[in-house]
Amino acid sequence: MRETTASTDPLLQPYRLRHLTLRNRLMSTAHEPAYSEDGLPKDRYRLYHVEKAKGGIALTMTAGSAIVAADSPPAFGNLHAYRDEIVPWLKRLADECHAHGAAVMIQLTHLGRRTGWNTADWLPVLAPSPIREPAHRAFPKTAEDWDLDRIVADYAAAAQRMQAAGLDGIELECYGHLLDQFWSPATNTRDDEYGGSLDNRLRFTHRVLDAIRAAVGGDFIMGLRLVADEDWDKGLSREDGIEICKRLVATGQVDFLNIIRGHIETDAALSKVIPVQGMRAAPHLDFAGDVRAETRFPVFHAARINDVATARHAVAEGKLDMVGMTRAHIADPHIGAKIAAGREHEIRPCVGATYCLDRIYEGGEALCIHNPATGREATMPHVIRSTEGARRRVVVVGAGPAGLEAARVSAERGHSVVLFEAAADAGGQVRLAARTRRRSELIGIVDWRVERCEAAGVEMRFNTLADASEVRAAEPDIVVVATGGLPNTAILEEGGDLVVSSWDILSGDAKPGGDVLIFDDNGAHPAMQAAEQLALSGAKVEIVTPERFFAPEIGGLNHVPYAEIFQRHGVRITIARRLTNVRRAGNGLLATIGSDYGEAIRETRAIDQVVVEHGTLPLDDLYFALREGSENRGEVDYRALIAGHPQTIVRNPEGDYRLYRIGDAVASRNIHAAIYDALRLAKDF
Ligand SMILES: Cc1cc2nc3c(=O)[nH]c(=O)nc-3n(C[C@H](O)[C@H](O)[C@H](O)COP(=O)(O)O)c2cc1C
Ligand code: SF4
Repeated sequence: MRETTASTDPLLQPYRLRHLTLRNRLMSTAHEPAYSEDGLPKDRYRLYHVEKAKGGIALTMTAGSAIVAADSPPAFGNLHAYRDEIVPWLKRLADECHAHGAAVMIQLTHLGRRTGWNTADWLPVLAPSPIREPAHRAFPKTAEDWDLDRIVADYAAAAQRMQAAGLDGIELECYGHLLDQFWSPATNTRDDEYGGSLDNRLRFTHRVLDAIRAAVGGDFIMGLRLVADEDWDKGLSREDGIEICKRLVATGQVDFLNIIRGHIETDAALSKVIPVQGMRAAPHLDFAGDVRAETRFPVFHAARINDVATARHAVAEGKLDMVGMTRAHIADPHIGAKIAAGREHEIRPCVGATYCLDRIYEGGEALCIHNPATGREATMPHVIRSTEGARRRVVVVGAGPAGLEAARVSAERGHSVVLFEAAADAGGQVRLAARTRRRSELIGIVDWRVERCEAAGVEMRFNTLADASEVRAAEPDIVVVATGGLPNTAILEEGGDLVVSSWDILSGDAKPGGDVLIFDDNGAHPAMQAAEQLALSGAKVEIVTPERFFAPEIGGLNHVPYAEIFQRHGVRITIARRLTNVRRAGNGLLATIGSDYGEAIRETRAIDQVVVEHGTLPLDDLYFALREGSENRGEVDYRALIAGHPQTIVRNPEGDYRLYRIGDAVASRNIHAAIYDALRLAKDF
């Protein structure tokens, strides 16, 4: 096999899209990170995209679904492409990305029924037909002729704004949004000139394309991100989808097709378009390649192509012209630069956790589960720079995600780092979570850090339960306590000694019972994973939770695999109930379940195993043993921390070292919080 070098690597070959030369084949497809402020792409938004430009990407498709009209209310922080104020902000973003060699486009849309009416200007939601989208739950009105006239003009005006901002082009969103809601028989039941035949269903799209071309001229690049097969019995067929592609290409108005397969009416459907970890990689790549072969037209595509080898294959085999590696760039915005420099192995892997996307549907911003610098470019570095100050001795205790990150960052700063870990391997709770086969990719969070630590010279001492004297013997200038926590199951009125924890189930320390009650008073992954493991082992499982809906800390896409497994295995879910007591009853157990909604409400269950999930309690003995000997007595200056500035507190001038406690050693949280704790302190060591 011929060796791939930067000059022969298919991924690094420039691509000519009409007058535009894209420097390689890597792109980030449209995604709304919800970093907008007042609907505008201000500093945070710009810095996020500029980082990818610095990192070697060829094309960054900004926004996700920037809205062209006020009656397409934002569903998740969408940019307001219908306002003139957006132009200078986008211009600055585009100028800075261009300065780093990346092209910039934007996705425009009218969301149609895929939004809610109770935000922004409280305008009614509209759609071709009054059919509700379950995911966003609005009951849309049927679009009238005057609505369509207005929206056509809105598209044209928005496109003009994007041109005025100096963007390299636009892409129209045509999957699950207004334009393709007209195409799909599932959402268009009209009997006027916009419904029925394919010609009629395409009429509105043609009007929009005509109006945009009239507004921006023939040279401005315009593509479509479009569904070419809804993979849905009542939706758009593959034949119709490919026919639509051909007809749109034939107009001569379109410059590229960005191919989608599947529909997004529900979370379950969306997870097939944007697969999460444990699901097949690149499931629609061959289909996108088929469309390219049939249309002989530039094709872009993204769907879980999260490793460079698959991306390279996609280009080398002529399946795609541009490869979307969208979440992969959220995890590591420097993919292109690392490939070009022969440092592919240093790419921080996207582990498919989809924490990023799930957060925006819960009203948050997109954050990567293990890259806390993403979206925080103003204060957090993606590339750790060597210290200009003294080289220090840093002792980190605990090799879970927090400790590994602290060790990695400290060592990359140039310090001498020793990392103590009581277990035989690194990873802590992440290693446990990755034992669920479906979530095994999570181990990438650990492996990447272990490799980076090794490369940076961290001395890792496993099987070492470091106490205060051992830490002091290492003569540290800085100590980071990242000892994590242990499951907190002592929350019942009676019978705490009769229960096991989620960890016991996941680790295999507790043999699965036959008839199991899981009390989830956390709402995150651990209880769900324990339930999954138990259900797959053949146990009869009931999850009881005091919440109003189950697992509220888990977003919609991560819910999907759990829901599928639970439904397949008959897992019973009981909400708004609280486990209070567990007693022995014969060979089994008797659980009493109360309710926050009435003291008289009490039920019992005869089972043979009870699992209690209530987060962790910090393992903080070491921290408190070291506190008095430290210069800062463990104190963190939160103002400095938030601003991204170094810590300078001195409470005890006699102290021998500075001391920090991070991750679950402070309080039960999650992987992102643990890693962010570490990065924001250690970047200034
Ligand atoms: C936070 C987030 C927001 C997204 N929003 C949009 C969007 O507004 N429009 C769109 O076409 N795709 C959106 N996507 C989908 C991505 O463009 C892409 O298709 C998807 O992430 C699969 O590609 P990947 O596996 O390379 O990440 C979003 C993805 C993420 C992670
Ligand atoms: S949160 Fe997960 S899916 Fe999203 S970018 Fe990070 S690693 Fe990838």
